[in-house]
Amino acid sequence: MGRASLLFSQCIVALTIFLVVVDHRELTKQIMIDTNTQKNVKSDSKVVNETEAVLTQERIRPPFLPDQVLEQYIQWHSERTLTDNNHRQYALIYYYCPNRAGNILHSMFNTAIWAIIHNRTILWKYDTDFSDPNTVHECQKILQRARWLPSWDEWAPRLNLTEPIPIEMDPLRIQEYQQYQTVVFPMIPDQMSRHKQFFRVDWRDDPMHKRNHRQYIMAMDDAAIRRTGRLYRYGIDYLLGMLFREFFTIHAPVSFQTEADDFTVALHSRHTVVGDDGSFITDETRCLETLLLNRTQSAKCIVYLMSDRPSTVHLLKEWLEDRNCTGVSNDDYASMASSPLLFRDEHGPNPGVGFIRDLALVSQARSALVGDPGRSSFMLLQEIVDYDRRIDDWRWGRDSPETIPFCQLPGRYGKGYNYGPGTPRFIAHWHNQLLEPVQVLQQYKSEHSDDALKKLENPSNQSYLIGYLPCSLEDDSIEEKLRSFLHDFLLAIATNRTLLVKYTNKTTICSRPAISVQEWLPSYDEWKESFPVRELSGNSLKPNRTSFTSLAKHELKTLLAKKNSSVITAPSELLDMLYKEGTNFLYGALLHESIQLRSTFETTLSPDPQGIRVLWYDTGDLHGHMTFILQETSRCLEPVLSNATDACQITFLQAQGDSDQVKVISNYFPTCTIIEVQAIMLPDLLQLSRDPTWSAFAGPREGLMTSVSSLLRESLVYQRREVIWKLGRFPPSVPDVLLCEY
Ligand SMILES: *[C@@H]1O[C@H](CO)[C@@H](O)[C@H](O)[C@H]1NC(C)=O
Ligand SMILES: *[C@@H]1O[C@H](CO)[C@@H](O)[C@H](O)[C@H]1NC(C)=O
Ligand SMILES: *[C@@H]1O[C@H](CO)[C@@H](O)[C@H](O)[C@H]1NC(C)=O
Ligand SMILES: *[C@@H]1O[C@H](CO)[C@@H](O)[C@H](O)[C@H]1NC(C)=O
Ligand SMILES: *[C@@H]1O[C@H](CO)[C@@H](O)[C@H](O)[C@H]1NC(C)=O
Ligand SMILES: *[C@@H]1O[C@H](CO)[C@@H](O)[C@H](O)[C@H]1NC(C)=O
Ligand SMILES: *[C@@H]1O[C@H](CO)[C@@H](O)[C@H](O)[C@H]1NC(C)=O
Ligand SMILES: *[C@@H]1O[C@H](CO)[C@@H](O)[C@H](O)[C@H]1NC(C)=O
Ligand SMILES: *[C@@H]1O[C@H](CO)[C@@H](O)[C@H](O)[C@H]1NC(C)=O
Ligand SMILES: *[C@@H]1O[C@H](CO)[C@@H](O)[C@H](O)[C@H]1NC(C)=O
Ligand SMILES: *[C@@H]1O[C@H](CO)[C@@H](O)[C@H](O)[C@H]1NC(C)=O
Repeated sequence: MGRASLLFSQCIVALTIFLVVVDHRELTKQIMIDTNTQKNVKSDSKVVNETEAVLTQERIRPPFLPDQVLEQYIQWHSERTLTDNNHRQYALIYYYCPNRAGNILHSMFNTAIWAIIHNRTILWKYDTDFSDPNTVHECQKILQRARWLPSWDEWAPRLNLTEPIPIEMDPLRIQEYQQYQTVVFPMIPDQMSRHKQFFRVDWRDDPMHKRNHRQYIMAMDDAAIRRTGRLYRYGIDYLLGMLFREFFTIHAPVSFQTEADDFTVALHSRHTVVGDDGSFITDETRCLETLLLNRTQSAKCIVYLMSDRPSTVHLLKEWLEDRNCTGVSNDDYASMASSPLLFRDEHGPNPGVGFIRDLALVSQARSALVGDPGRSSFMLLQEIVDYDRRIDDWRWGRDSPETIPFCQLPGRYGKGYNYGPGTPRFIAHWHNQLLEPVQVLQQYKSEHSDDALKKLENPSNQSYLIGYLPCSLEDDSIEEKLRSFLHDFLLAIATNRTLLVKYTNKTTICSRPAISVQEWLPSYDEWKESFPVRELSGNSLKPNRTSFTSLAKHELKTLLAKKNSSVITAPSELLDMLYKEGTNFLYGALLHESIQLRSTFETTLSPDPQGIRVLWYDTGDLHGHMTFILQETSRCLEPVLSNATDACQITFLQAQGDSDQVKVISNYFPTCTIIEVQAIMLPDLLQLSRDPTWSAFAGPREGLMTSVSSLLRESLVYQRREVIWKLGRFPPSVPDVLLCEY
């Protein structure tokens, strides 16, 4: 929902007009009842006359009330005015950048407005959320903070400041709050979230947004109320735009500049679901069609574009070109990957610095705006444009219209949206049901993890199953043992037993496995001290340990049917759920949930991540059937390789290395780049298979000699389908991994 609701803007108008003349208790009444005042603030002579009076000697800052209040504030509170012993009051203001600038900067400015209203000195503190690693140095490079702003880290020790006290803006406690030297105003929940004692509001909650906050302001002294009225003289957008410009300077080259007479539109298009590649632009073009009607034939038409999806920008440029209008965006978009598989984050391929750079370019628009006011990122743009245009008009001696034309894009929120009949449905994965096998695994993890075990009063009552993992990477049968471990894991789920991991290489028990396990898995060695683990008697429940192949559903059922009657077995529905996405997916999921990989191998590959990527595993000896295999494989790969426009890349994994073979392969696939990877260890192989951008897998069929091939296939199938599910596009636009086995 847009913040600039009618009621709200009318309150501001009312506040502005009446603050100057009316006692504040009357004002409270006025604010509650006055919903019809549509009076143009510009025509209020009292305010205009006061503007003249407030004017300071130098005309550097525009003669507008909000700017004057800020000027006064800076005179009182800039770093220069701080001395080592003083009795002033402070407010601690947090921020970081450039990630999530929309939310974080709104929170910063909203708390800064509170500080100005309270006449407290702002002390900034740079503090990222744990998930956002941007350093203050990186932030300064793109968004430089104004020098007048003093820092908490520097001044708190010098001034011997006490710990800041979070305050809740309770009108009845204003007197109490006044005694605190340093306060923390309410901020958004996801900043400094580790500080549970801080009070929380939404990013939209500037001091005049919520009724109880307005009541708080009305209960303050007259000077504070007056400051508030002046700050909000042109509305909250102007105020926030002013704070942006006064607190920060964007360091980014602006490649395209407009002339004053140009018809310039700013368009911000945001998509929340990762799988939405931004190729549906009907909402945008509908808005532009209407807005462009207003351009005069003589004026040059410019639409500044910013989006989290490069496709949106490219498609809109084409659309605009046909309409005698120029779409302008930062150059970055040209080289950006457009497949959601590659960026894997809802903010698209160019968030953070890219967003700030876009803001610098797109905020030059003056004629109209397109975007979703429910988005803090769009609102930053709108606020900056609102401030800048009035300042420009003042500089050029022109009248500023009260508002500029705006067209709202529909909200595209994670809980689900589409683009009309016949278009796919988009839903963010956290609003969607997990795939069925994953549901079962999550349930199992919650009941049988190390943590769950610690919470049990009598762990010895629990039933267990021991899964063995090899100790050494040199172990010849490492793949076989890993396969056997996955069988054990599956059996543990099917019999509702807790899987305990034991590391062994037949002769020796070791303390660390060759391949590390996920942290949730309890270790046999740790738990055997606490209670005697009763291992399953006999091998009645164990599958054939020499088998390299995965257990199909009917095989598992047969195995369970032979069970010892004291063993609980899972209901048939649970087994159906486990196998719902197929055996490959199931074993891939078991592998993913149990084995942790710390290999960084992947980073040395992928010269062209946008190309079609094929992973080819072979032991280095195609057994003399090379021609046949190549023919079969090439036929199989046709669907992914048919597009000559897409770059193609085959990563050939071979244990021994045989360059003749690679030469023959490249002759068969002349449009593809062949990347050879030789003699790599199992963890690195598995790491490679965790990349969901592989479009196809080629390798020998499941069998005695091919256990690695099977593990790779299962892992690829799982990773790809899991990521497709996470993309949240239904039906998906990305196909499953193509399997070409010979
Ligand atoms: C300012 O106030 C004076 C009288 O107080 C009035 O004559 C004048 O027109 C006002 N100026 C504006 C710009 O409204
Ligand atoms: C605001 O605070 C500054 C610094 O503490 C002080 O010098 C100034 O007098 C205060 N102004 C008002 C109106 O209280
Ligand atoms: C800071 O406070 C401590 C204890 O409250 C006091 O001992 C010290 O003298 C103070 N320092 C300054 C510079 O005021
Ligand atoms: C066209 O311009 C007029 C005057 O500037 C404005 O009132 C109107 O809202 C604009 N219409 C559109 C669709 O932008
Ligand atoms: C395109 O715009 C230019 C001015 O930028 C104008 O001279 C020309 O007539 C326009 N063409 C069409 C087809 O509207
Ligand atoms: C769990 O074990 C304790 C003693 O180890 C025993 O007294 C209790 O009856 C057992 N509970 C169940 C449900 O088997
Ligand atoms: C499976 O085991 C867990 C942990 O012992 C237990 O809480 C849960 O009720 C069991 N589920 C079934 C279906 O027996
Ligand atoms: C088993 O592991 C131990 C310790 O890691 C090692 O010394 C021993 O050689 C291994 N034995 C075999 C048969 O791999
Ligand atoms: C185990 O697998 C081997 C090789 O596939 C086979 O020869 C043997 O019969 C199997 N044993 C059982 C009990 O299934
Ligand atoms: C069944 O399990 C019990 C206890 O776990 C064991 O004593 C018995 O020998 C088992 N029976 C078979 C046929 O494995
Ligand atoms: C091939 O490329 C064209 C244009 O890039 C695209 O429209 C088409 O969907 C692609 N076909 C396949 C099978 O990827």
